Amino acid sequence: MDIYQIKKQSLSELEKIQDPLELEMFRVKYLGRKDGELTVILRSLKDLPLEKRKEIGQEANKFRQELEEAVKNKNKEIENWKLKIGNSKIDITAPGVKLPHGHLHPITKVLRQVEEIFMSMGFEIVEGPDIETEYYNFDALNIPKEHPVRDLWDTFWLKDIDLLLRTHTSPVQARYMEKHNPPFRIIVPGRCFRHEATDASHSHTFYQLEGLMVDKDTSVANFKAVIEEFFKRLFKQEIEIRLRPSYFPFTEPSFEVDIRKNKNWLEIMGAGMVHPNVFKAAGYNPAHWQGFAFGMGLDRIAMMKYKIDDIRLFYSGDLRFLKQF
Ligand code: DAH
Repeated sequence: MDIYQIKKQSLSELEKIQDPLELEMFRVKYLGRKDGELTVILRSLKDLPLEKRKEIGQEANKFRQELEEAVKNKNKEIENWKLKIGNSKIDITAPGVKLPHGHLHPITKVLRQVEEIFMSMGFEIVEGPDIETEYYNFDALNIPKEHPVRDLWDTFWLKDIDLLLRTHTSPVQARYMEKHNPPFRIIVPGRCFRHEATDASHSHTFYQLEGLMVDKDTSVANFKAVIEEFFKRLFKQEIEIRLRPSYFPFTEPSFEVDIRKNKNWLEIMGAGMVHPNVFKAAGYNPAHWQGFAFGMGLDRIAMMKYKIDDIRLFYSGDLRFLKQF
């Protein structure tokens, strides 16, 4: 490079420099004592004819001073600038922080799979309120006041008014039947609450999935077929189930459904044939209709599916747990 090229190129390079390291490299490139571009020019002056030597010598010396000055200024500029962003605590030159991607909660994931399966079997998805009246949570389900079974569903009452946090999704059976006529098949996913001590398998807040199918001659056999198919698709393998006699005020007969996991039977849901009183409360003639109902804990299902041993983890908001799914 000759001196004129150096002048042009170095200044435009300097313009763009933003950090001390770049600046030092720039200084060495042009002003370095050993092979800096300007040093090389000054060193080669002695080989030039006198006229040229004078012209270029002056030019180069002048420019060296200019450039040294410019480097000093640039250095100050960088220092100042660092001070400024240092005070505002924002380093606008730092690379951006990637926002972490969120994902679905394990219960939501399981719920979506469950909904998918039931929808493919012709079930509609229905929802109801988390805050319920005493009537729908209990009376409409054949659980009158003073019925001892109310103790099983101890709940959170809202002060001074006849409202409570629903203890199960069953009230939506009554709400739905008041407004719709059979035949129908519905599932009702939703959050439920119980006033009870928490431990690894009990939480005051949890999720249930209710099912209800009503037609002229819906039977226990229909129930068994639907539920067997459901478990088979959910766990992607043949699942053995059994029905055990049980008691629920809103079904007659009632049963518990167990599924076989290795050698053990696991209680997975309550079910039964809808009690005539529940039909009556909804305005149906129990002589004309029959149907099955069931209710299962979605948390339980998610725990089995993902091998989680403590229900409280679902509600802990702990990212170390949640990020695993
Ligand atoms: N509601 C019951 C509970 O929370 C579960 C249940 C049992 C729902 C039997 C039903 C049923 O629909 O038929 O314990």
